[in-house]
Amino acid sequence: MTEQKPVSDTNAAKVHLPDAQTVLSVKHWTDRLFSFRVSRPKSLRFRSGEFVMIGLMGENGKPLLRAYSIASPSWDEELEFYSIKVPDGPLTSKLQHIGVGDEIILRPKPVGTLVHDALLPGKTIWFLATGTGIAPFASLMRDPETYEKYDRVVMMHTCRENAELQYGRELVESLKDDPLIGEMVADKLLYYPTTTREASAHMGRITDNLSSGKVFADLGLPPMTPETDRAMVCGSLAFNVDVKAVLESFGLREGANSEPKEYVVEKAFVGDGI
Ligand SMILES: Cc1cc2nc3c(=O)[nH]c(=O)nc-3n(C[C@H](O)[C@H](O)[C@H](O)COP(=O)(O)OP(=O)(O)OC[C@H]3O[C@@H](n4cnc5c(N)ncnc54)[C@H](O)[C@@H]3O)c2cc1C
Ligand SMILES: NC(=O)c1ccc[n+]([C@@H]2O[C@H](COP(=O)([O-])OP(=O)(O)OC[C@H]3O[C@@H](n4cnc5c(N)ncnc54)[C@H](OP(=O)(O)O)[C@@H]3O)[C@@H](O)[C@H]2O)c1
Repeated sequence: MTEQKPVSDTNAAKVHLPDAQTVLSVKHWTDRLFSFRVSRPKSLRFRSGEFVMIGLMGENGKPLLRAYSIASPSWDEELEFYSIKVPDGPLTSKLQHIGVGDEIILRPKPVGTLVHDALLPGKTIWFLATGTGIAPFASLMRDPETYEKYDRVVMMHTCRENAELQYGRELVESLKDDPLIGEMVADKLLYYPTTTREASAHMGRITDNLSSGKVFADLGLPPMTPETDRAMVCGSLAFNVDVKAVLESFGLREGANSEPKEYVVEKAFVGDGI
């Protein structure tokens, strides 16, 4: 019997990876947050704001997949993701170690509620996010359709500490020089980052800053009304529940792809927090 040449673990993984996409770049933002870009399947069509299932091959030889919002806009030739690192998380304890040239699994079936079609036409759109919940809005903020549909776009992003805001901060900053949407962004995008456990220019929870009217006063905007304002929400379950109550207090109603109304919600993750 002829002896088989041993195959390295890496090569074996590459040969067997279904729906494989190649990692093109990785950036670590903090010890619990990173972003990465991968190749985009030619056939993949999605609406900015949607999510897909991505992952790695598990030790049992089956794909280990999790839902991830696509952080890049629908026109981009690559796909970007913004990820938590859960120390003992089945996927992210491994995913956080990916490097350029590695492969991940990407199931090309985008879905989600944070899409323009799920909202009735309005004047001002509010993107409300905590933590990695900014990912779908990283997509929507880079999509010209957002600025074509609305006179004003308000991005409220809240994290415990300043370092956790940096991904969103740099993204918003880069939009001003974007040849495609730079001018529209300068006129229309208002960015309102806040921290809750470290000092910064604006502080406090999104729910409190909306209920107290502080954000309207700071940005020089009238309070929300169902006639003019639309909202998209993405954060922990507790955040989503509390924000919904605030939006309803302004008279906004929850919509869906099948029945567009004034606001839509998506979970940034399942569970109560790490
Ligand atoms: C619709 C949807 C979209 C999502 N989009 C993203 C995304 O764009 N980026 C992203 O990092 N995650 C996202 N997630 C969460 C993601 O699916 C995984 O839960 C995450 O990658 C951790 O996987 P894991 O296997 O390491 O741990 P898991 O076993 O999946 O999670 C372990 C625990 O970690 C906590 N946790 C998980 N994800 C987060 C998070 N993002 N922020 C804070 N705590 C968390 C929860 O308490 C969870 O119970 C999304 C989830 C859903 C439902
Ligand atoms: N962020 C970190 O530095 C850090 C480090 C290690 C571990 N962890 C763990 O990771 C998990 C997730 O942490 P995270 O910081 O990503 O998410 P998080 O706990 O959901 O907090 C993110 C932001 O959302 C705010 N928030 C939370 N619940 C809210 C609600 N119901 N209404 C309005 N605002 C709300 C928080 O304000 P408050 O600060 O007021 O709660 C914080 O500014 C937690 O279990 C945490 O223990 C976090």
